[in-house]
Amino acid sequence: MTHSATNPGIQDPGGLDAPVPFPQPRGCPYQPPAGYAPLHASHPLGRVTLWDGRAAWAVTGHGLARDLLADPRLSSDRARPGFPAPSEQFAKVRSRGVKLIAVDDPEHNAQRRLLIPHFTLKRNASLRPRIQQIVDQLLDTMERQGSPADLVRAFALPMPSMVICTLLGVPYGDHEFFEECSQRLLSGETVEEVAAARAELERYLGELVDRKRGEPGEGLIDELMRVDTPEGPLDREELVGLAELLLAAGHETTANMVSLGVLTLLSHPEQLAALRSGETSRTVVVEELLRYLSVSNWILRVAAEDIEVAGRTIRAGEGVIFMTALINRDGGFFPQPEGLDWDRSARHHLAFGFGAHQCLGQNLARMELEIALGSLFERLPGLRLAVPPEEIRPKPANSTIAGLLELPVQW
Ligand code: HEM
Repeated sequence: MTHSATNPGIQDPGGLDAPVPFPQPRGCPYQPPAGYAPLHASHPLGRVTLWDGRAAWAVTGHGLARDLLADPRLSSDRARPGFPAPSEQFAKVRSRGVKLIAVDDPEHNAQRRLLIPHFTLKRNASLRPRIQQIVDQLLDTMERQGSPADLVRAFALPMPSMVICTLLGVPYGDHEFFEECSQRLLSGETVEEVAAARAELERYLGELVDRKRGEPGEGLIDELMRVDTPEGPLDREELVGLAELLLAAGHETTANMVSLGVLTLLSHPEQLAALRSGETSRTVVVEELLRYLSVSNWILRVAAEDIEVAGRTIRAGEGVIFMTALINRDGGFFPQPEGLDWDRSARHHLAFGFGAHQCLGQNLARMELEIALGSLFERLPGLRLAVPPEEIRPKPANSTIAGLLELPVQW
């Protein structure tokens, strides 16, 4: 394969638009980066340049994204040569053996089948009272400690972490440790801090598996321990890997939807009033916020074979990046996509991805968000920002999940 001298990683494209640097920071935390505008404006399949100078394809059109996310010729295997890395840190850790989300069939299908029974509508419904209790307890503590507060640390981060504790069957006495450790995993400032938190969490989960072998209890880990796969029962490493994946997939995503969702609602008083009065249902609000915010900044793939699509050829070994925020604001699919509009049908947004890897926890996430946002605005009717909006800092450009470093609020 010949590579152009300036853009190793994509075959000499001839006639394509100039590549756009990737990733770029969100200026306003709830808007896509302004620097992506050239991608949005031209073709549904554009090009970006990564931090290491390599080029990758960027999908921005809704229809094309659905076609390609359902195409088995695109691989999720991060160890494959050419898999696009949005940052140096990602490049260093990408082949760490992440389960499910980072593997292809048949391995992917086998792992997904193990988890499907834990995410049925019935299972989700059985978690509802506990989620409401978690949200109420966090709001009690916020009220007790008094205004102002950082909503990220006081509410958005602990809520989904506690839900995952319940889902996994982490004993109640360990919740505080688990929660503190997963907060450090997300907010560690150096590579070493993050690695230390991950190691601590892996050690804890390994010990938890050992403890549960002697003393079976309730929860996903216990149930997975009882499953007999064609290769026999899952071993300690497999159980820890699946538990870790669920934490990675379900914690920061949901937490950042809460903090960004609150900021967005506080910045759109008319839309917030419709939620508060009950004129618009929580379900509608959450769906449109999922589209509007697209917190999962990108979905990454590499072509396993040549793919002819949209008049262009993606060659085997070339990286493909699904630009979620742009796809969910494709004006050809969502009329007036820049507006936060409770009257549109946002249902077919791709905030949870599409195809074989589509988010397994999406209905759990929807329920968490409905309860968290609904209860927060009900309990604290005077909720408002404690600093001018321009002082609220978005997470850095290379974060896979868009969000806020902190959200100072008062009530
Ligand atoms: C608002 C919150 C969430 C968002 C925006 C979100 C987004 C996504 C996206 C975009 C993917 C697809 C990744 C890809 O195709 O490579 C995904 C996959 C996944 N998500 Fe979520 N997610 C959320 C919450 C959750 C929760 C709460 C859980 C479970 C506790 C969860 C579990 C998973 C799993 C297991 C996968 C991998 C599925 C597979 O590879 O087959 N997610 N999520």
